[in-house]
Amino acid sequence: DEAEHGLDAPNQKWSHEGFFSSFDHRAIRRGYQVYTQVCATCHSVNQLHFRNLVDVAYTEEEVKEMAAEIEVQDGPNDEGEMFDRPGRLSDKLPQPYANEEGARYANGGAYPPDLSLITKARHNGENYVFSLLLGYREPPEGISVREGLYYNPYFPGGAIAMPKMLNDEGVEYDDGTPATEAQQAKDVVTFLAWAAEPELDERKLMGAKWIGVLALVLATTIYYKRWKWAPVK
Ligand code: HEM
Repeated sequence: DEAEHGLDAPNQKWSHEGFFSSFDHRAIRRGYQVYTQVCATCHSVNQLHFRNLVDVAYTEEEVKEMAAEIEVQDGPNDEGEMFDRPGRLSDKLPQPYANEEGARYANGGAYPPDLSLITKARHNGENYVFSLLLGYREPPEGISVREGLYYNPYFPGGAIAMPKMLNDEGVEYDDGTPATEAQQAKDVVTFLAWAAEPELDERKLMGAKWIGVLALVLATTIYYKRWKWAPVK
């Protein structure tokens, strides 16, 4: 039933699909900009630490500067007190709310979930989030939506507590890419897909290296066997 499960999100072409393809790092960087400028007001990505961004989206120097701009609570110190200090590479990205209660209070009772694993946790995750972000429209005739909710056919139930978030030119990209709604949706989904597996590129690379090593061993073995047995025939 469409209303209950939400409209099927059509497949998009994601550059990171497939064994030999890696994430589009420029898209991750732009997606991080969408995340920080728009989504981070309400959503955390708990799984990510600043260091994850190093060499993926920014240089180490850039990430250190970004981290230093936030205040992180630390402690207790020798006097047993908590204190604030500038962020470091090893810190998590800042969270919008202290806890779920605060999050719900700020969002009319609804809970903006942590987005670390959202592309994995939802059926057809990447395509779903992409369609959801772009899926806001007027409700069809005969369907009314409760106050504080917004019609979106991709959301299970068709009414979501998150308002439409993306608008053309709603963010500013530092690489000059025109920030259309669809561009922002694609980039933020790429960022979230990467955030769910920040080490995936490395694993794929290791896998490919191993295949290379095994192929070499196999070739050497065959050659050696032929050479060794040649005089016998
Ligand atoms: C839910 C993404 C910005 C408030 C969600 C969901 C996703 C999402 C994927 C989950 C839908 C589900 O459960 O299947 C994003 C992205 C954002 C963004 C990518 C930035 C582009 C925001 C902002 C707010 C917000 C800025 C607050 C003003 C919420 C709330 C929910 C939600 C309250 C829960 C909705 C419900 O259960 O009805 N968001 N969001 N989101 N988001 Fe966002």
